[in-house]
Amino acid sequence: MAEGNYLVGVDIGSSSIKLCQLKDVRGKRTLVKFGYYPLPSQTVVDGHVMNASAIIQGLNSLWSQLKLKRKECSLAVSGHAVIIRRLALPMMTQAELAEQIPWEAEQQIPYDIKDVQIDYEVLRRRPEQGQMDVLLVAAKKEEINDAAQVAREAKLKPAVVDVDAFTVQNAFEVNYGLPREGNVALINIGAGLTTVNILSGGIPAFTRSIVNGGNAITEEIQKRLGISWEEAEVYKTHAAGGQLDARAVVPAEVPQIIRQAVEQLSAEILRSLDFYLATSGEREIGRIYLSGGTANIPEMAVALERRAKAPVEPLDPFRDIAVDPKEVNTEQLNLHRAQVCVAIGLALRKDREKV
Ligand SMILES: Nc1ncnc2c1ncn2[C@@H]1O[C@H](COP(=O)(O)OP(=O)(O)OP(=O)(O)O)[C@@H](O)[C@H]1O
Ligand SMILES: [Mg+2]
Repeated sequence: MAEGNYLVGVDIGSSSIKLCQLKDVRGKRTLVKFGYYPLPSQTVVDGHVMNASAIIQGLNSLWSQLKLKRKECSLAVSGHAVIIRRLALPMMTQAELAEQIPWEAEQQIPYDIKDVQIDYEVLRRRPEQGQMDVLLVAAKKEEINDAAQVAREAKLKPAVVDVDAFTVQNAFEVNYGLPREGNVALINIGAGLTTVNILSGGIPAFTRSIVNGGNAITEEIQKRLGISWEEAEVYKTHAAGGQLDARAVVPAEVPQIIRQAVEQLSAEILRSLDFYLATSGEREIGRIYLSGGTANIPEMAVALERRAKAPVEPLDPFRDIAVDPKEVNTEQLNLHRAQVCVAIGLALRKDREKV
């Protein structure tokens, strides 16, 4: 484990901010702070911050409500802003690779290299083939700066900006360990965005963002019933077993609308899995781990399991991370359990670690 202190993990999603802080308590990673702040709709649209003041207000409110002293935080950028490529390169030294990367990036990244921040990591060396696999990540500087700027305006000190799909992977790794063999898919289905990250032999082999998520289901309910967005959200979460408004009487057609929308979403996710299988030559996805708020809809797992012919289970971010019940409102945490994987992945980051 790297030296340093845990940063405050802040996931600014399009529907809400999720905040997690970890601490090692008697050698066990423990959640000691959890915060959830719903954002008004249209705060983040297509990955762009449209209403910075709503986010700043949310961050300030979380910091004072949770009495957080630490200002150093880690943030995520979403798939909108990131391009991830896996490259097979001839074996070379780190120094040679450092020289080669900008050239590779020119070839692989459809943006001006000046506008992106490049990061890379050697995933695996395969001396027998004379090759090595390298993960190339390019994130748009503008979007990294936007995220960091909002945090700075809220008087925070952003120390790390991570890629959302990899934060979920980090949350998975500390809780489950990385499987040495086979393929597992980590799928985070949020409000506006779904990220798919397939690990093959424990190494990210395929990462894709799909601009679709729970919002599409809410929109469908809104449109079909001619009601407001807020009402449609309540119906959706209530029909899915959520506890947002136990008094709401859900119209009879809602479950059917949800099922149809879920079918569409799962079909789109399956296309990514099929694409991976077709291009990698791998035979099957062994298991799917679901996270994100939309994973709360039971039909989601059922539809994916049927289509992908692979067992689907929720990614439990607290399988191997303890929760301090004296510090954390466990009822609130359980309500948002599916939504905290990105924030947990971010909260695992430490300052003074090499980024
Ligand atoms: N119990 C529930 N039943 C059905 N849907 C739910 C439930 N809880 C949350 N959701 C849906 O999950 C979505 C929010 O999930 P999440 O917090 O993962 O998204 P986000 O991080 O804010 O957004 P994104 O990452 O897409 O920008 C919303 O569409 C919300 O309606
Ligand atoms: Mg999210």
